[in-house]
Amino acid sequence: MSDLLLAQYQALFADAEYATSDPISILANSSAFIMEMVPDLNWAGFYLWDRQRQQLTVGPFQGKIACALIASGTGVCGTAFAQQTAQRIDDVHAFAGHIACDSATNSEMVLPFAIAGEPAGVLDLDSPKLARFSRADQAILERLLQLIANKLTPLN
Ligand code: SME
Repeated sequence: MSDLLLAQYQALFADAEYATSDPISILANSSAFIMEMVPDLNWAGFYLWDRQRQQLTVGPFQGKIACALIASGTGVCGTAFAQQTAQRIDDVHAFAGHIACDSATNSEMVLPFAIAGEPAGVLDLDSPKLARFSRADQAILERLLQLIANKLTPLN
């Protein structure tokens, strides 16, 4: 993966057909873009912070049916959100508290994002390959996630 991924994302969403400001539409197409462009994924999508219920709720994604609600601090997603730090897990079976949604998953990367400075959710990527996600992948995907988050208005 390279800067080309970011250029492709920007080109796609510069197209009038995709130039929506609806956050669900942006996240839906962004999850489809990531699933199509990033090799070796079996799940790609967003968990969104529900401020009223104080939990993560599954948002737009591509992949198998997923756990709908995740408490902050629970699993890889809840840990990334609670700590506001990226989680790059080479082997999910070695992560205490990992929430298994698809038995094919062996490694996972979760990146938190904010909207207008407020923590808003996480991007979750799962792979059937062990140690799929490198530091370089993390850096590119963090930049992509920033491009996505910049398009979003507060969700709730
Ligand atoms: N594995 C995640 C749960 C979400 S699914 O992977 C889609 C976790 O431990 O938080």
